[in-house]
Amino acid sequence: MDKLRIIGGTPLHGEVSISGAKNAALPILCAGLLTADTVTLTNVPKLNDISTTLKLLGQLGVKTTRHSDDSVSITADEVSTLEAPYELVKTMRASILVLGPLLARFGEARVSLPGGCAIGQRPVDQHIQGLAALGADIKIEHGFVVARAKRLKGAVVRTDMVTVTGTENLMMAAVLAEGQTILENAAREPEVIDLAELLIKMGANIKGHGTDRIVIEGVDRLHGAQHRVIPDRIEAGSFLCAVGAAGGEIMLRNAAPETMGATLAKLQEAGLQITCGSDWIQASMSGRPKAVDMRTHEYPGFATDMQAQLMALNTIAEGTSVIVETIFENRYMHVQELIRLGAHIDIDGHTAVVRGVKTLSGATVMATDLRASASLVIAGLAAEGETFVERIYHLDRGYERMEHKLRLLGANIERTTS
Ligand code: UD1
Repeated sequence: MDKLRIIGGTPLHGEVSISGAKNAALPILCAGLLTADTVTLTNVPKLNDISTTLKLLGQLGVKTTRHSDDSVSITADEVSTLEAPYELVKTMRASILVLGPLLARFGEARVSLPGGCAIGQRPVDQHIQGLAALGADIKIEHGFVVARAKRLKGAVVRTDMVTVTGTENLMMAAVLAEGQTILENAAREPEVIDLAELLIKMGANIKGHGTDRIVIEGVDRLHGAQHRVIPDRIEAGSFLCAVGAAGGEIMLRNAAPETMGATLAKLQEAGLQITCGSDWIQASMSGRPKAVDMRTHEYPGFATDMQAQLMALNTIAEGTSVIVETIFENRYMHVQELIRLGAHIDIDGHTAVVRGVKTLSGATVMATDLRASASLVIAGLAAEGETFVERIYHLDRGYERMEHKLRLLGANIERTTS
């Protein structure tokens, strides 16, 4: 199994390019199921979650081609099965995103229930209730969600909570439904907007994306389109936390600072000097960061996907910070590992109190989920001596060659195989 070896204490200097957003690319790839024409996507990151999605689409009979230049084309003209199997869904919960498109275009879908996950219970009840409101007949049979509908019918759907993939699934279902669908309490994440923009290029009639009320007029069919996936705001935010922790000055190219308001504000509060253009972010840091409180929230609030990385920065900050995780019930798996590096953190339910220490000391730590892995890398860059981060297959799900990009910035980091 691969691990990362990091020798901390080297400030970061240089320039890296941010990859396309994983969480935008996943639903966008699934949207290719909505038409028999070819959908061509550019800026698709090379990640394990993307390979899993392409494998899943391939198993459904979709032709997928990955080109050398970060582009992918998808043609779903001969879909041969309507079933997403457990073996793939269990490795990637986002596989549930094929449910809406398959049901909308083919009138039937069987998708394995994802089951539990490291960061919390994460049910998909809102996806199911929403599709039922659009007229689907849905049963849970032998661990599968089995959905049928001759043609979905538009309706007003109000989810109990804001759900990102739930909104995406329902939007993809509603574009081919008969009549008008209104999604209330919809997610406003940039990745939802990006999906809506692709769907509109495919001929869908969608208004209000980016607000909590999305209005969709169903159409009879969609056609092919070309689309560039937005830059990954979480990858960019993670590199900014890295320079915050290690010090130095970096330039991020192909970034989307307009999607990163809450993260940039917190990092400035922590003491980073940040300058942005339309597609770049320059950041520098000298001295110790200042402790910053944060409370995770749906977009445009502070992203739960940035909580672990900013916590890593807080471990070496001047002062004490209070962190409240409001989205997932078990998203503090990185805390015990950060403590192994010398951090002072107390957890009480959804709240973590971090008392900044002057220095962390390198140790062997274990990645437990995707963003937790990034937080351990960030802490390792700041720690004295040698840190090994094990189980980095979690990191590879969502970061494109993170160690390679960090090496471009001068970090002393390498991948080793044990
Ligand atoms: C997406 C992101 C993930 C991010 C999360 C929150 C993708 C592929 N993943 O995950 O990186 O951390 O948004 O920003 O885009 N919930 C239910 N029932 C449902 C759906 C959700 O109870 O049917 C709950 C969840 O357990 C969670 C909250 O709603 O507590 C928000 O989850 P949701 O927005 O759905 O997360 P994902 O879409 O799975």
